[in-house]
Amino acid sequence: MAKPRIAIMISGRGSNMAALLDAIREGRLDAEAGVVISNIEDAAGLTRARQQGVETLVISHKSRAREEHDREIVAELSRRGVSLVCLAGYMRLLSPHFVRSFENRILNIHPSLLPAFPGIDAQRQALEHGVKITGCTVHIVDEQLDHGPIVMQRAVEVLEGDTVESLTSRILEQEHQIYPLAVSRVLSEGFGVEGRRTFSERES
Ligand code: GRF
Repeated sequence: MAKPRIAIMISGRGSNMAALLDAIREGRLDAEAGVVISNIEDAAGLTRARQQGVETLVISHKSRAREEHDREIVAELSRRGVSLVCLAGYMRLLSPHFVRSFENRILNIHPSLLPAFPGIDAQRQALEHGVKITGCTVHIVDEQLDHGPIVMQRAVEVLEGDTVESLTSRILEQEHQIYPLAVSRVLSEGFGVEGRRTFSERES
């Protein structure tokens, strides 16, 4: 049987993208890397994807309406038979058109335990709030920012003396572990979404 084809969307460094590509290469994630798409021409992650022989596309958002930009992306994804889209540091809100075209088939990774600290600078928000535990979340993308049903989370302890940098790097280690696991879970038979909940086996 053909493996499900995933797309990864980035705007920058692409370390989560690399974690997904590594998992595919090492056989820990049973999928095919269809395409890496960036809205930023010189995103560092693009070089890494090309080195691994994965097709890359740059689709710039500059001087374009959000929906028009997203329509082009959706067309490219559909043309390649992509069944799951993984946002990995993709710094754009998706239009309703994009979300509806891939309903429950777009994932995002966020560096906090959602619903705490959505939006940018989640690690700084957590430090400033004084929480003792934060972490990372893989969730399904819906039409609101950092909001959709949660697929997987990993807790990270905030240590005394932590800086934004030290906390960010410990969270990132966990991101790299859970993103491939979460993608596997979503691709596995029996996975589904009901309201805000995700499940792996529906009870009979
Ligand atoms: C990660 O912290 C991710 O959670 C957030 O953006 C960052 C992207 O880092 N959405 P990278 O580009 O994957 O290295």
